[in-house]
Amino acid sequence: MTMLTDRFGRVHRDLRLSLTDRCSLRCRYCMPAQGLPWTPNEDLLTTGELLQLVGIATELGVREVRLTGGEPLLRPDAAEIVAGIVALPQNPEVSLTTNGLKLAAVADDLVAAGLQRVNISLDTLDRTTFKELTLRDRLPDVLAGVEAARSAGLEPIKINAVLIRGVNDHEAPTLLRWALANGLRLRFIEQMPLDPQHSWDRATMITREEILRSLAEAGFEVTPATGRGSAPAEEFLVNGGPARVGIVGSVTKPFCAACDRVRLTADGQWRSCLFAAGERDLRTPLRAGAGKAELAGLMSAEVKAKKPGHGLDDPGFLQPDRPMSAIGG
Ligand code: 5AD
Ligand code: SF4
Repeated sequence: MTMLTDRFGRVHRDLRLSLTDRCSLRCRYCMPAQGLPWTPNEDLLTTGELLQLVGIATELGVREVRLTGGEPLLRPDAAEIVAGIVALPQNPEVSLTTNGLKLAAVADDLVAAGLQRVNISLDTLDRTTFKELTLRDRLPDVLAGVEAARSAGLEPIKINAVLIRGVNDHEAPTLLRWALANGLRLRFIEQMPLDPQHSWDRATMITREEILRSLAEAGFEVTPATGRGSAPAEEFLVNGGPARVGIVGSVTKPFCAACDRVRLTADGQWRSCLFAAGERDLRTPLRAGAGKAELAGLMSAEVKAKKPGHGLDDPGFLQPDRPMSAIGG
């Protein structure tokens, strides 16, 4: 079978697999307090369907599968999905992006199933701010999740933090101190226009530059490290290294030219980019009995139509219809 190569020569090896659009938190930059109209259960891919599509994607060259959501651990079959992917002949790596709430309960099972790495989302270490930002008083559960990931042997543990002006933007140094003291790899992510409320504003988002400045002002010496590859995070050495911090400058320093990511939503839509206006429905043909070659053809065609970049700076930029939680981060 052919590889998932686009018109710009980018080969796609990294699949972001969303397991659900639901979430147990309500981060204000991602979801309104009342939640969103969730995908009906009958439209969600079953365990078997998910594995069938991931199987085809791996035949087309995918070598890493990252489980996302929504909150992927809300799916009771998460460990089964991990085991199913690991058992594929191409032996893909499986990683997970989670809000950490359920990690204490399931980390051991996930590792036993073959999970290799975890990214835990955590934007603040202040319990009051956490509650304000996520509308749930669950900071202790996330911290327990981080510890559970460590005891389960997951390494490295990455922490993803989004800074919001006036809420947690003063916490960059605190988060970094904590991450370094605990052997965690911290990455800050610039906020992207993917919120259902359409409240994103370029003028008020916290930029990569501001994060670097805030760390420098707190006394950290932060210098560029080499070797980014296709990884979204730009790596920096802290105080000469080996300690590091990452910044995902999606908005002010896009990395689309090196992108190797494709996405499959929980309801079976295949996307070539977070910001793609279109997507390819795989669920309908799959349920209608389409064979491997047909589904692979649909996957390749969508990758061939991938744009060179997210186009955030184009005057005609339109936010995609799906919010982040329904695409998969
Ligand atoms: N911009 C940047 N990051 C976001 N996340 C959710 N919404 C956005 C957004 N609009 C982050 C979460 C989590 C990861 C899956 O994506 O905080 O760390
Ligand atoms: Fe890839 Fe699209 Fe993200 Fe750019 S914006 S890195 S092309 S997924």
